[in-house]
Parts: sequence; structure tokens; C-alpha cells
Amino acid sequence: MDFELKTLSRPRSASEKCDALVVLVPAHVTPGADALSTLISGAIKAGHFDAERGKMLQSYRSPGVSATRLILVGVGSGSGKDVRAAVAAAMGPIKASSAQKIILSLSWLATDDGLGSDQVQAAVLACADGAYSYRLTKSKPAAPRLEKVLIGVPAAASVRQGFQAGLAVARGIDLAREWGNRPANHATPTMLAGAARDLAKLRGIRAEVLGPREVARLGMGSFMAVARGSQEPLRFIVLRYSGAARDQAPVVLVGKGITFDTGGISIKPAPEMDEMKFDMCGAASVLGAFRALAELQPNINVVGLIPACENMPDGRALKPGDVVRSMSGQTIEVLNTDAEGRLILCDALTYAERFKPRAVVDIATLTGACVIALGAVRSGLFASDDALALALSEAGEAALDPCWRMPLDDEYAEGLKTNFADVANVAGRAAGSVTAAKFLQRFAAKYPWAHLDIAGTAWKGGAAKGSTGRPVGLLVHYLLAQAASAPKRARVSRRAKA
Ligand code: BES
Ligand code: MN
Ligand code: ZN
Repeated sequence: MDFELKTLSRPRSASEKCDALVVLVPAHVTPGADALSTLISGAIKAGHFDAERGKMLQSYRSPGVSATRLILVGVGSGSGKDVRAAVAAAMGPIKASSAQKIILSLSWLATDDGLGSDQVQAAVLACADGAYSYRLTKSKPAAPRLEKVLIGVPAAASVRQGFQAGLAVARGIDLAREWGNRPANHATPTMLAGAARDLAKLRGIRAEVLGPREVARLGMGSFMAVARGSQEPLRFIVLRYSGAARDQAPVVLVGKGITFDTGGISIKPAPEMDEMKFDMCGAASVLGAFRALAELQPNINVVGLIPACENMPDGRALKPGDVVRSMSGQTIEVLNTDAEGRLILCDALTYAERFKPRAVVDIATLTGACVIALGAVRSGLFASDDALALALSEAGEAALDPCWRMPLDDEYAEGLKTNFADVANVAGRAAGSVTAAKFLQRFAAKYPWAHLDIAGTAWKGGAAKGSTGRPVGLLVHYLLAQAASAPKRARVSRRAKA
């Protein structure tokens, strides 16, 4: 599907040919003298339409409108969040019809100050989100009909950057959703590595994939222990995006890549176990963020690390009580093999040290306890560094992909003490998402670190079961903000010195 940003005045919106014209109408609308404005104010006056967010009025072959269908949709206050909800609502009838070319007009939304980039981005993201459909393992997948989306605005130049960022994030989210949704037998560690290799064909991206032998040589005893129960060989994926001078410290993103989590010997109950195919959504969000980086080419260096394996029960599998030795040298007593995410992440966090990073952010569907704490609205944010926590929180708000900071008091680590190793992999039931973060923190002492627990936000269950692509939006906004605040490429000055 193709997006285009175009300057379209109100009268031009009405005269442009397309299958459907979607007009976003805010509560504060100031109708003009054009035919469509007259139609809108008439509909409001007659009580057939109001601009409350998500309210819709549809018509067919309306006089003065070249589009076959006209959809008026209310956007309430017109905030980014309202725009997202309105476009999501309008995508219902668009998908039900066989529309190929549509126009989303934001020209009634603009005030005297113009449009906000956030409004344009929200429109692009909601439209792409509604247009996504999973196809891979269906023998007769529904053919995607929507080919072209024209975003009509009063002045394209002033919102072009926001539009481009929205488009890049949308592509990243698409990729993350697709890999998240793929069943575990179609998204093995080896296949995830293949996805990383595909990304490395894009500008500025390189990928390196380590297998069991290299990982053993690195001493990643904790990661290897989780993979032991599976027939699928583990993969450790290293992605690099180079957009800044080589000596500029990178941001490292670490994504949990458990391609299926049975719980291992501490096996999970059967109901909803299928959803544990989503246990690699942290990894998928890293792939998605790199997809967006390739598109936007920001001035920053980023490393992506993905430990990928299955967590399975087997004669050779890790057992409760086993003690493993992590790459950091710390020994871990595995009291519950279902707390496997932290066991693969801890070795990746140690590996991250070699990049002398300016910050490390890990992203993981880590704990059911985080779902209980925050539900599906906000991801859990844990951070050892206040500036990093603030930057991630702000990125989440700006991207409409919010998170909420959780505590890391040392008292929460009490329960991780054991008589048989340096640390246990689980504590009691209380504050489960915090004790998991306290475990990780032991391996992330050498750099500013943050952890995003996306167990509640990465996918939806029930009838709308599927991956959300979160937190790609948060991550990309964070990286773009970091690029903006980083020193520019020093090439010229260095040559001057020589
Ligand atoms: N992948 C799960 C976390 C999870 C569970 C995410 C349910 C979303 C929904 C993780 O590996 C896990 O099993 N965690 C355990 C930890 C416990 C054994 C301390 C959990 O949350 O139950
Ligand atoms: Mn588990
Ligand atoms: Zn898991």
C-alpha cells in the first residue's frame, strides 16, 4: 500500500476522484463557503452528524463530491489520540467496501496554526494499522484491496517530516506485527535470523548471526541452558545501524526472542498456551525499529541484540534447581524454568558491554505480573538512570505508545537470594515484574539501563488476537530524539585537524 502526502484545499478534496473520501471533522470546525463545508455544517445542524470522536456519517455519490463514498468522521478535540481513534473507526467501512484509492482529508482539522506533525503521524499509523492483515498461513488469504492512501493537508511542506516519520514507524510496526503473529513453526530462531539478514540489505544496516558454537565460546551458559530442551538451534542476532561517526557510542536495544515458551519442565497450563508464540515480540520490536531506522537514516548508531530460542520440556531440558553459569560469571539457580526470559536476556546484557553503549534498553514479554499491574494500556518501564527513564517516557507519550515507570528499590531483590548460587531466577509471587527487573539489573551495572516489560501491550488476546507492534513507536521516537540531541558527524572538523 502506498501513502502520499498532498496539499489539498477543502474544495480540492471534494473534486478529487477516489473510491472514498474520509473527512476528519473536529468539534471546533469552522466551515467555509465550499460545497463540502456546507454539507458538513448542514448535517451537524440537522442533528445527523456530530464531531464527537469516532462518530461517523456515510453517504454515496453526494452532490459536489467526486469521491464515490463520503465518510465524515468526528475527531473531537483533534488530538493525536483522537485522530488515531477516528481513522481506526473509518477503516472499518473502508475495508468492508472494495475501496482501492482513498483520501484522508485533514484539511478541516487544521487550525490557523496549521496541522501538528503528531496529527499527521497518527493518521498514517492508524490507517496502516487498519490495513494490515495476516496472510502467511492461510490457504485463501483475503486479497488486500486498498492500494493508495492520499493524506490531504492544507500545506504539505510543513508536515512532511512528521509524515515521513509516521510512514517509517508504520513500516516498522508492520514488520514487528508480522513476525509476532507468525506461528512458532513459521518463526523459529533460524527464521528470525533470516529476517535480520533481510534487514541488512537496507542502507546502513549490517547483521551478524551467532549459532550454538559461537555462543558456547562466549560463555553464555544461561542462554544455552534455556535452549537445551529444544530441537531448534538457538541464534544470537547482532544488528547494527550506523548513522553517525564510528566513535560515537551506540544505543543498544536487546529484544527477548523466545519463539515459543512452554514454560519448560515448569510447564505452563494448556489454556491459551498458543499465545506464547508471541514471546518473541521484544525481538520483533527490535527488528521493527531497525526497519524504521533504515527508512529515516537518523544521525545515530544503534546496536540490536536478539537472543532467540525455544523454551521446551525434554529429557535434556534444564530442571528446577539446576545451577547455570552466566557470561558475566555470576551463577544462577533456576528455581522455575518458566522464568526463562531473564535467563537469555542476562547474557545479552553482558554481551552489550563490549559496545561501550551510551544506553541499553531491553524489551521483553517478561512477566504475567506486569499484565496484572498495568494491563494492556501501558508497558512497564524500569530504569537505573533517571534521564533515560524520562526520555523513554516522553517518547512513549509522543508516539501514543505509553509506558509507566516502576520502582527498583534494592529491597525487592531480597527474594532472589539462594543458598546454592549467586542469585535465583525467581522470587515470590509479590511484585513479580519488579523482581524480574531486579534480576536483570544485576547484569546491567556497567551502563545506563532501562527495561520495558511489554507482556501486556505486545499482543491482544480474544477475538482480535494478534500482535500490536508495540513498542516500535516508542523506540523509534526515542532514537530520533537521541539523534537530534547527539553531536553531528565530526568528519569535517577531524579533517581540518589533520
Ligand atoms: N513469557 C512469560 C511471561 C508472560 C506470561 C507474558 C503471560 C504474557 C502473558 C514468561 O516467560 C513467564 O513465563 N514468566 C513467568 C515468571 C514466573 C515463573 C516467575 C510468569 O510471569 O508467570
Ligand atoms: Mn516463561
Ligand atoms: Zn517467556
